Amino acid sequence: MKIAMIGTGYVGLVSGVCFSDFGHEVVCVDKDPRKIEMLERGEVPIFEPGLDQVMARNVEGGRLTFTGDLAAAVDGADAVFIAVGTPTRRGDGHADLTYVMAAAEEIANALTGYAVIVTKSTVPVGTNRKVQATIAQANPAADFDVASNPEFLREGAAIDDFMRPDRVVVGVESDRARDVMAEIYRPLFLREFPIVYTDLETAEMIKYGANAFLAAKITFINEMAMLCEKTGADIKAVAKGMGLDGRIGNKFLHAGPGYGGSCFPKDTSALARIGQDYACPMKITETVIAVNDAVKRRMIDKVVDLCGGSVNGKVIAVLGVTFKPNTDDMREAPSLTIVPALVGGGAQLRVVDPQGRREGEALLPGVQWMDDAYKAAQDADAVVILTEWNEFRGLDLKRLAGAMAQPRMADLRNIYPVGDVRDAGFDAYVSIGRKGFGTEG
Ligand SMILES: NC(=O)c1ccc[n+]([C@@H]2O[C@H](COP(=O)([O-])OP(=O)(O)OC[C@H]3O[C@@H](n4cnc5c(N)ncnc54)[C@H](O)[C@@H]3O)[C@@H](O)[C@H]2O)c1
Repeated sequence: MKIAMIGTGYVGLVSGVCFSDFGHEVVCVDKDPRKIEMLERGEVPIFEPGLDQVMARNVEGGRLTFTGDLAAAVDGADAVFIAVGTPTRRGDGHADLTYVMAAAEEIANALTGYAVIVTKSTVPVGTNRKVQATIAQANPAADFDVASNPEFLREGAAIDDFMRPDRVVVGVESDRARDVMAEIYRPLFLREFPIVYTDLETAEMIKYGANAFLAAKITFINEMAMLCEKTGADIKAVAKGMGLDGRIGNKFLHAGPGYGGSCFPKDTSALARIGQDYACPMKITETVIAVNDAVKRRMIDKVVDLCGGSVNGKVIAVLGVTFKPNTDDMREAPSLTIVPALVGGGAQLRVVDPQGRREGEALLPGVQWMDDAYKAAQDADAVVILTEWNEFRGLDLKRLAGAMAQPRMADLRNIYPVGDVRDAGFDAYVSIGRKGFGTEG
């Protein structure tokens, strides 16, 4: 199959690279010339573990190329994937479809023969029909079908998720388009990964349903953690006891500083808006959004309490600012709520993150970037673990405590056993939904 992939962000680049690894001939397109120049030099514009190797071997094999010329990529393609961003529209919480529709129109004008136009971006119910209408209107002679193929990969584990998915969802309404999609995903079909064929609206809805459900699961355990703090129960043990129930499962059941990232916040918001548009309020999702916002803000109070009621003049080392480990993605990260609030409260912040600095520098003004947790903790009044990068999971706690002016820790990912922190010489410790020590709260 000959594939054009429009958009080389986290989803487009991973999908394009993996499709080429399946043996297809893939051209990845982006309108950002900087990204294309980097890709042509063999550099990966994002941090995603393992992506560079798979990319290199397929470029080498002649199956994978990059261009800024959309028309050239679409010419002769069997399938054109739209993998551009669908951020939250400013002001109203809807998904912003500007990029999807602009891409659809550009594709329409570039079509030379039959092709399936596949939406990989996460889009509200009804969007694929709009894409269909837009293309038909822009180029009435175009011979095409549309397909909805939402993506479920997780940043940080994207290659494995794409190559070994729980399922592939394909919304498609003609045999011809279904055959093209079946051929594209043939390597996964042969390895017996489930491929779910649906109509367009159902495929679109599955993606929002899945993300809203996962966001709700995280938020549920975060709310339970609040109650644990009041009642003296331990959220880690509660989550373990709940998660061992096969109907519940242990994934997405870790209490933390609230969900962030490029998907959950915008997709829950979009689903809530879709519900409102259809006069069918998605009350659970709306509540999840509100509770998650409160959870993020609660983290600020935790750090303030840890510092004795005020962070003014305090030196605080923040470990991790990306929304989760193994990515450089900062979109909607809890750090973007917590760090500015601490800076605003008069704290002096030192920030360490293995990959977050490139994006983070512009997003977190007024902080000092450092490359080592122990240096950041030197003479500090508190250390705050915000993202559970591996290098923050195995800290030498004694060394850390010994370096600090005031050995106090806010472990917002519940990494460390409370006893270990105490034994290492810390004076105060707070985490999520567990008893700490050395503070009032
Ligand atoms: N990031 C994730 O983990 C993830 C997972 C599943 C689904 N999704 C969905 O996939 C979509 C893409 O997300 P992302 O994180 O990869 O976005 P991104 O912002 O990282 O990348 C989008 C890319 O599209 C390019 N682009 C925009 N318009 C273009 C055009 N007309 N022609 C060529 N290039 C164009 C941009 O320059 C950018 O490089 C979104 O709808 C998102 O919800 C994302």
